[in-house]
Amino acid sequence: MCMSSSVFSPVTLSNGITLKNRVVKAAMEENMASYQSLPGEALYSLYRYWAHGELGMIITGNVMIDKQAMTGPGGVALEAKTPLAPFTQWAKIIQSNGAKAIMQINHPGRQVLKAMQGKALAPSPIPVNVGKHSKMFATPRQMTCDDIHDVCQRFVTTARRAVEAGFDGVEIHAAHGYLLTQFLSPLTNQRQDEWGGSLENRARLLLNIVSQVKAHCPQDFLLMVKINSADFQRGGFGIDDAITVIRRLESLGVHVVEVSGGSYEAPAMQRRTADDTQLAREAYFLEFARQIASATTIPVMTTGGIKRAEVAQQVVDSGCTLVGMASALAVTPDLVKKWQQYPAYAGVILKCGWRDKALASLAGMAMVRRQLRRLGNDLTTLRTPSPLLSLLLDLHHRKRMTRRYRRELSSE
Ligand SMILES: Cc1cc2nc3c(=O)[nH]c(=O)nc-3n(C[C@H](O)[C@H](O)[C@H](O)COP(=O)(O)O)c2cc1C
Repeated sequence: MCMSSSVFSPVTLSNGITLKNRVVKAAMEENMASYQSLPGEALYSLYRYWAHGELGMIITGNVMIDKQAMTGPGGVALEAKTPLAPFTQWAKIIQSNGAKAIMQINHPGRQVLKAMQGKALAPSPIPVNVGKHSKMFATPRQMTCDDIHDVCQRFVTTARRAVEAGFDGVEIHAAHGYLLTQFLSPLTNQRQDEWGGSLENRARLLLNIVSQVKAHCPQDFLLMVKINSADFQRGGFGIDDAITVIRRLESLGVHVVEVSGGSYEAPAMQRRTADDTQLAREAYFLEFARQIASATTIPVMTTGGIKRAEVAQQVVDSGCTLVGMASALAVTPDLVKKWQQYPAYAGVILKCGWRDKALASLAGMAMVRRQLRRLGNDLTTLRTPSPLLSLLLDLHHRKRMTRRYRRELSSE
């Protein structure tokens, strides 16, 4: 950790890889997969923009470890028998201008839309509660020990296949309310066996996956974990829990932790909490990341609300090694290049100000995803898109992708 490093200076991580600078494109689920949940032309076009955007590292949108358990329609999945060539091409495009290519790997657990008709598994059979919108989600089945071992094995298989495809590393998604967060949080994990109860037990699945992935991948393959600084729900996983788990990840040799927060129920990653915690206006999780960085030797990356070079530099000056950006890079994929030319250039984070917070959140995501699809079609992005039109276009696209996924699922 170097307090005076520039955000634009190279950094070498403990697996030996050097990033050309400290800015990382954080994971954004694109919902733009080709047939059979494979990467295809639309994703390649999108990632070409980021590859030429002077980023140090590019993390893919979450790739599913089980094609029957998808976070959303049009998602990408990589299993034991999935054809590898489309992933090899994806990695090559990402690396074409010197950025490192990291595949984020994930299992949604209970955060599965009912319309998708796939598997919805969870540590305990507690459905997602988002008020009047809860009925959109499937009711999860409590996982057996065999299900838990299967999930662990699948994370390892997907990570090994990412190595084969030429990726530089993987990021295990243990944030935002997905399966591994569901195990970590006492609100969603009410098991009485070795997988629930104490923090040690709740963290067991994540720690087992990390040690197995370490054991089965080359030493120089970058291993990252994205973890919540907190659930931001009363009685949930908190910052002290996060620090305890991260210290265990440190002892297992994880190379980078990305600090985020929240879930579908408390979308802190969009700066909305359910326990009245006030997050910073920009770099939402910086205070938490600072605490974590001072409690561990693992390099810390924080993502959330960053769009200006000055703020990115503050993140580095606070002891974080890497600066993550998602939404701002959907509108301005070459934002880092722009910062280098015009240091005061401010990126744009699309938000919707509607009174219905849940609907506003959906529209905000829809506005971002619309820009991803535009880049995938080689169109220019929009700095002031209409929230309503974006939402309608997004719903149409997701319906189409859901129908295709269900057809594919039933023909397997
Ligand atoms: C459209 C969209 C899709 C996202 N998909 C993912 C994902 O697949 N995995 C993940 O860890 N985070 C995902 N996120 C969250 C971002 O990585 C990030 O943590 C969050 O948006 C806050 O950062 P930002 O303010 O720079 O966008 C997504 C965000 C958006 C807007």
